[in-house]
Formats: sequence, structure tokens, C-alpha cells
Amino acid sequence: MVNATPTAAERLDAAEAQMSDELDRVIARSVLYTSGERDPSGPMELPFGSLPPGKYVLQGADPRLKKMPAKPTLLDFFKYRIGPANHLLQSAKHALRGGHPEHVVLACLLHDIAVMGFIRSDHGYWGAQLLEPYVTEEVSWAIRAHQSLRFFPDESVGYSYPEHYIKIFGPNYQPEPYIVAEYERYRKHKWYMTARLICLNDIYSFDPNVIVALDEFEDIIGRNFRQPEEGLGFDATPSSHMWRTIMWPTRFL
Ligand SMILES: [Fe+2]
Ligand SMILES: [Fe+2]
Repeated sequence: MVNATPTAAERLDAAEAQMSDELDRVIARSVLYTSGERDPSGPMELPFGSLPPGKYVLQGADPRLKKMPAKPTLLDFFKYRIGPANHLLQSAKHALRGGHPEHVVLACLLHDIAVMGFIRSDHGYWGAQLLEPYVTEEVSWAIRAHQSLRFFPDESVGYSYPEHYIKIFGPNYQPEPYIVAEYERYRKHKWYMTARLICLNDIYSFDPNVIVALDEFEDIIGRNFRQPEEGLGFDATPSSHMWRTIMWPTRFL
């Protein structure tokens, strides 16, 4: 009898089993990695339940990923963990060309950092929380708020509902009530326009032929991002653990 074609999750499991044999370490993926492909409320095999003698779980850096420096900077994260960053770089370049102040350029450069490097769902909130200890309150506020504002047009500044969203969400998509409520609050806020500028400079075309180099923003990052001496992840801020998870995504605990 011919076996049924394996699902994406089964193929991933098989590839990881083979990889873990080669690495001599068992890799356990967080629930978040597989939730949706698997029902997280269903039974789950404990990866340490069947560890053969001398075989251990992966606790630390994943050898399949590029090695990070001991004291990683934001630029290191861009180089080794966040990618492809072209969308962010293009948006920042657009803001720079538009003559916007540095904090707006930085906000554009980092606005989707969560999507590119961490978690897609509720990306504005995750991104803001990740960055909060290192940027001004205005920048992290704007990154959080862009997630809601981008669904609502503001003709006074020439921002229409993105065509791209009709394509990817469908013509009848309605944002959830919490997004509508956030938008109502944010539009009256003193930093509304900073968040709106993120949406205005957000390049929805994702043109693969336009390449912007990260080096162009090194100075702006240097002046507007508080790089910790100990390295991101090791500076004991409320988001250090998030940087560590991006660095070591398959660490067992
Ligand atoms: Fe976004
Ligand atoms: Fe974006």
C-alpha cells in the first residue's frame, strides 16, 4: 500500500528528526511554531520522554543558524536573524527621501521588525514591546499604533486603504473590534501623525529589484537607538528575553 503524501508538519518533523540525529541534539519546537498545523489542545509527545542514553535536548544556540556575537547589536540582529529586511529598508528610505525627521525614519526602519524576525500576529504590539527600552516612547508608541491605523484611510495626508490589503485579505475584510477601538483612541493622540507617517511610508509594493543597504541607516540607528553595552538580550530590560528568543529560537527552556 502506498503511503499518503506527508503533510507539511510531518515533513518538517522528519527533517528535524534527521537534523537532530546529525546534531546529536533533540530540537523541540515551541507550541507557537506548530499551533495551527497541530491542535495545541491535543496530546503532545514530550521530546524528553524518549531520549536515548547520551542524547540531549538543544539548550542554547542552534547550530543550524548563523552564529551571533557575544554582545549582539541591532545591526547584528538585522544581519543574522531579521530577514529579508528589504521592506523595512525601502520604507525607511522613502521616509528619508520625504525629508522626515530621524525618529520617523527609525520608526519606519523598525515598524515590522516583529514580522521579519519574531511573530507575525499582532506584530505592531510585539515590535513595540521589543523596542521599548531602546527607543523613545514616541517611536515605540507609533510602531504599536501603525498596526491599527494602516486599516483606516486618512485622506488629509493622502493615505488610502492599501490595494495590497484587498489582494491579501480579500475585499470584505473587516478589522476586529479591538483594532477599530484602538484606531479611535489613537487618532486623537498627540503622536497620531508619527504613526500615520509609518503607514504613509510603508511600501506595500515589496519591489524585489529595489535594494537599499542597511549601512545607509547606521548613523541614524547610532543616534536614535540605545544600544546596550552588554548586547541585546543580556542587558536585563523588560524585553531582553525577547531578543534572546530571536537569537535562540529552539532553546529547550
Ligand atoms: Fe506593519
Ligand atoms: Fe510594513
